[in-house]
Amino acid sequence: MNTPMRWPAEAIWEAIAPDLPGFTVEILPEIDSTNTELMRRARAGRFDPVLLVAERQSAGRGRLGRDWHSGADTHSASSACPSLTFSIGLSLAPHDWSGMSLAVGLSLVESLHPDLHLKWPNDVYFQGRKLAGILIETVGMAETPGARYAVVGVGINLQARRADGLNTPPAWLQELLPDTEAPDALLQVAAPLIHALKAFERSGFSPFKARFNARDALAGLDVVLSDGMTGRALGVDDVGALQVLGTQGLQKVTSAEVSVRPATWSAPLKP
Ligand code: BTN
Repeated sequence: MNTPMRWPAEAIWEAIAPDLPGFTVEILPEIDSTNTELMRRARAGRFDPVLLVAERQSAGRGRLGRDWHSGADTHSASSACPSLTFSIGLSLAPHDWSGMSLAVGLSLVESLHPDLHLKWPNDVYFQGRKLAGILIETVGMAETPGARYAVVGVGINLQARRADGLNTPPAWLQELLPDTEAPDALLQVAAPLIHALKAFERSGFSPFKARFNARDALAGLDVVLSDGMTGRALGVDDVGALQVLGTQGLQKVTSAEVSVRPATWSAPLKP
């Protein structure tokens, strides 16, 4: 019989609750999607600060309307999760929301491993392969003008998985940290991520810029954007816009609907 996983809920709660009154940690064996669940709660007026972890998602969602599969191919054979999937829900009222998803990606790479990089805006990469993804959604809070409830969803590959149907080949955390299971990875990333979100709320993206550029997987590369633009990637600016030097001069890319990849990659961009 599989032994149940031991999650560090209490340690995370102790690190966060003093700064975030009402904060709770919930661990579920299965749900459709941790993002979908927190968005459902928010639309029903529940705006509590929460970390919601699911050992399995049946309908995980990615950016740009894509699905997010947890790599469950190996899951039935062991009690270990093939990926870590969780969402953080909290109300935030930053002066400017620009760059928040980049700050989230930066927090993940900094708390996971020095060899990880970020592909703009926020995909976590190891050696040209995607290791983790982030999906951020928000809901307006009618009774708190200026604030929104943000749902920050994170999926981290832990074990080897098939590349079928993926846009880019996968990387997984156990390549870098062989004994790391989902509860260990959660303990590494959750509290720093909530602190990064609060720091972003106070000061915006600019204090994160230099550290993002130090981890930028696209820095100095010729890139192709899904809107057809091409040029050389020159890092991000104070609001997290990707700077691309092309034939028209320096262009700033802000839209989260645009995908970017190095020109040397052969796979077509979706969309
Ligand atoms: C992407 O790279 O496209 C983003 C993937 C985000 C996946 C996570 S897993 C936890 C949370 N729940 C979801 O349904 N999606 C996010």
